[in-house]
Amino acid sequence: MPHSPAEPQANSLWGGRFARGPDAIMQEINASIGFDKRLWRQDIEGSKAHARMLAAQGIITEADRDAILAGLDDIANEIARGAFAFSEAREDIHLNIEAALAERIGEAGRRLHTARSRNDQVALDLRLWVRDAIDQLDAQLQALLRALLDQAERYAASPMPGFTHLQIAQPITFGHHLLAYVEMMARDRARFADCRARLNESPLGAAALAGTSFPIDRHATAAALGFARPMANSLDAVSSRDFALEFLAAAAICAAHLSRLAEEIVIWASAPFRFIRLSDAFTTGSSIMPQKRNPDAAELVRAKTGRINGNLLALLTVMKGLPLAYAKDMQEDKEPVFDTADTLALCLAATEGMVRDLEADEAAMRRWAGEGFATATDLADWLVRALGLPFRDAHHVTGRLVALAEAKGCGLADLSLDDLRSVEPRITADVYSVLSVEASIASRTSYGGTAPANVRAQIAAWRERLG
Ligand code: ARG
Repeated sequence: MPHSPAEPQANSLWGGRFARGPDAIMQEINASIGFDKRLWRQDIEGSKAHARMLAAQGIITEADRDAILAGLDDIANEIARGAFAFSEAREDIHLNIEAALAERIGEAGRRLHTARSRNDQVALDLRLWVRDAIDQLDAQLQALLRALLDQAERYAASPMPGFTHLQIAQPITFGHHLLAYVEMMARDRARFADCRARLNESPLGAAALAGTSFPIDRHATAAALGFARPMANSLDAVSSRDFALEFLAAAAICAAHLSRLAEEIVIWASAPFRFIRLSDAFTTGSSIMPQKRNPDAAELVRAKTGRINGNLLALLTVMKGLPLAYAKDMQEDKEPVFDTADTLALCLAATEGMVRDLEADEAAMRRWAGEGFATATDLADWLVRALGLPFRDAHHVTGRLVALAEAKGCGLADLSLDDLRSVEPRITADVYSVLSVEASIASRTSYGGTAPANVRAQIAAWRERLG
């Protein structure tokens, strides 16, 4: 199929040796402006730092610098107002802004690209963008931690069944359960902080791949843009995307945590469980079944993990096997990064809302906390402590008592002393003091355990750390 040129003239910025413009399909596959326009703030910030440095080093005049800075501010205002006309023929955000600058201020605008390449420019822009995204996500994670802590405090002593294999295991408190997510999501913050610290080096001035013969000052631009230092190797600076991979990986782990909480919310809010009630604000009704109250937000948080994982795999696959230095393949880094940042931000906001609004049904949780012989471990521990039985023997005796209670259709605490003694004659009435849900929970005072006093101490420690 014959194709028509997208634009009759060769590109005005790199078209020196080209006789004619690109094929329409070439333009379509090549252009990234459709998505990388989101880098406009970072692109302009980087260009301003570059222009100031060029003038300070005597590479351009102060008059040219001033014209460039004013022109870039103009363009920034226009983009912010939504009045800037982005052009696909101008390929990407870098060429769009640079061409607009040249149109506005003439020759000075065409001097901006001295000692720079789009290769270090795009690496710079994306680093700045990811750095900002991390700061925003971190603020959202903090808000979610506070919501979890508030609910953990409210339900610090409220019994619920603790599960393993989703089978009732031992009584815990709802506050303790929520604090488990506080721990996970605090580690998510730390992972993002590590990623931020490692990405915070400036690639600007690496130029196309080899550095430049102009007497630039990379330390100055790095400092002006808030970086800790310039990147030490020009090839690495233009061709590494592990900063983006780390961001995507940290986000994927965070999304995994959010999806686990979302799944629990779905289970807890279901009618057979009825552990929690979600607010109207974070549920939907059914068009056919009026009684329904669907946890759509939780389901979508659970589901969106899929695309967040996919974005990590997409960029890992793009980067695998790429020879140094820059290759156009790397243009494919942006959409996964943007999508993950947007998706995770939405998931964090929805999760915070659901957590803030949720109401626990303490009676329902309490009822189930005592089901399933949940205090069997407490009975076995009592046999060890009071009668000196080895734990394995105590486990066996307890198993027989569970079987007895099961046969009688009652709980462990409902067995008579005679029943208990029919299996182990040395048992005394003192055993009943450990068979209640409340006694079981209060006894779990080992560090990190579920006793309400522990839970309250952990909440206080987290509040202190969050400030
Ligand atoms: N749009 C490009 C990207 O996102 C910018 C860098 C282009 N560099 C080049 N040598 N063609 O990767």
